Amino acid sequence: MIYQSAQLDAMEQRYRAAFVNSLSGFKAANLVGSCDADGQYNLAIMSSVVHIGSHPPLLALVLRPDDAKQHSLQNILSQKHYTLNHVSEDIFKAAHQTAARYPKEISEFDAVGLDTQQLADFPAPFVKAAVVKLGMLLRDHKKLEINGTHLIIGEIVLACVPDSIIGDDGSVDIGAANTVTLSGLDSYYSTSRLARMPYAKP
Ligand SMILES: Cc1cc2nc3c(=O)[nH]c(=O)nc-3n(C[C@H](O)[C@H](O)[C@H](O)COP(=O)(O)O)c2cc1C
Repeated sequence: MIYQSAQLDAMEQRYRAAFVNSLSGFKAANLVGSCDADGQYNLAIMSSVVHIGSHPPLLALVLRPDDAKQHSLQNILSQKHYTLNHVSEDIFKAAHQTAARYPKEISEFDAVGLDTQQLADFPAPFVKAAVVKLGMLLRDHKKLEINGTHLIIGEIVLACVPDSIIGDDGSVDIGAANTVTLSGLDSYYSTSRLARMPYAKP
């Protein structure tokens, strides 16, 4: 079946959200760790992390428009530091549960049973069980006029990656770290590499 704008528009809201959320392909699964000015920790799963550039090392994150209720957004904008923690097979269920709307005074770390970790005096909390952990510094923020979502661009200022999964050329074998991938808002997949390809030339 071919869906055009009229059909997409006519879909029931939740059905459309599930449908459209599946269309961008497999997505990264990350836990966003942050804290507020009082040191209250927050953790939320996000699938919108994308690579912006390597030098400086930048990653973008898209946050929902619901400003008042998004603790991650408030914390990132006010404290500038946040963490990205790859979701691996052993923690994906707990990671998913962080999407629940816990009150601000409840840390999702405690609520879902994931331990925090401090690394190198970085001001935001890491997920201890995550194999790949990134410390991020907010570098740019744009509220997108088209739908009110927030584009957050952060610089990787700390990367905690086991030596054993870093190749001679610098590539990181995130499959060996058991990092999962996501489809839509609720489907988690394990991965297996098909091949590594040579640099493409004409
Ligand atoms: C699989 C999955 C992916 C998600 N990705 C995002 C995302 O990229 N951006 C976003 O704003 N919310 C995303 N969410 C929703 C947040 O996890 C959810 O709104 C959470 O309650 C936010 O927590 P906070 O208020 O503590 O920041 C996602 C939820 C799930 C289940």
